Amino acid sequence: MQVLYVGYGVGGPMANLARYSGAGFVGINNNTYRIERARHHARDVGSRCRFMHGDYMRIPEGDDCYDAAFAIKSMPRAPDKAGASREALRVLRPGACFLGYEWCVTDDLDPENAEHQLIRNGIMVGNALPEIASMPEICDALHAAGFELPEASDRAPESDPGMPWYRALQGRDFTLSSIPRTPFGRALTNLTLRVGERPRLFPEGSRAVSTLLNVAADALVEGGRSGMFTPVFFFLARKPSRSDD
Ligand SMILES: C[S@@+](CC[C@H](N)C(=O)[O-])C[C@H]1O[C@@H](n2cnc3c(N)ncnc32)[C@H](O)[C@@H]1O
Repeated sequence: MQVLYVGYGVGGPMANLARYSGAGFVGINNNTYRIERARHHARDVGSRCRFMHGDYMRIPEGDDCYDAAFAIKSMPRAPDKAGASREALRVLRPGACFLGYEWCVTDDLDPENAEHQLIRNGIMVGNALPEIASMPEICDALHAAGFELPEASDRAPESDPGMPWYRALQGRDFTLSSIPRTPFGRALTNLTLRVGERPRLFPEGSRAVSTLLNVAADALVEGGRSGMFTPVFFFLARKPSRSDD
C-alpha cells in the first residue's frame, strides 16, 4: 500500500507505522525544520518513507494514486477545511480510506461561559492555533469534499477515567518525567532559563516560550476536565467507489 500522511510533524507516527507494516508512506509538510527531524526519526525505515515539502491544500501528486491517507492534528490549521479534504479525496483511489484524529471543541463548550472562553483561548494561543473546530465542522468539511463518513466520534470519553489523556500534563505522577510539570519543576525551569538567557546559554525568549507552554498545558488540562475540548476526535472517511467498480 502507498499511504499519504497529511501534515506530519516530526514524523513519529509515520516511522512507527512503517516499522509495523509493510506499507510505503509519503508525508507532506510545509515546514523545512520538521522535514529534517522526520528524516532523522525514520532513518531505519527511510526506504519506505518519503518526505515531501509542500502545501496539503495543493498536493503535488496526480489523482487516485494513494491506497489510504491519514492526518493527525493538522486539519484545524487548514484555512479551508473542505478544500483540504477535497485534496485528500482527489489523491485517494476510489474506495480508499482517510483516517484522522483532530483537536476539537465539544458540545459541552458554552459560548456564553467566560471561563470556557479563557480555556479555549489558552489552548489556541499556547498551541499557535488560529481556531479550534467543532466536531460537526470537521464532519461537514469531509462531507462537502465528497467523502462518505462511516465513523466519527470523540474517543476521549472511552478512555480510562483513572488515566485521562491530560494526566501527564498535570504533573501529579511520581515519575522523573513528571517533575518538570510540577509547580517546583516549573519554577526551576523558569529560574534556569532566566539565568541562562543572560549569558546566551539559551536563546533569548526561551523563558517566554516556556511560560506560554505552561499556559497551554493548564488550558488543555482544564479543557479536558470540563469536557469542552477533546484531542481525539476520530474520523474514518471513505472516497466513494466508482459506480462501475
Ligand atoms: C499540530 S502539527 C501535527 C503534526 C503531526 N501530525 C503530529 O501529530 O504530531 C500540524 C502540522 O501540519 C503542518 N502543516 C500545517 N499547515 C500545512 C499545510 N498547509 N501544508 C502542509 N503541512 C502543513 C505543520 O507544519 C505541522 O507540522
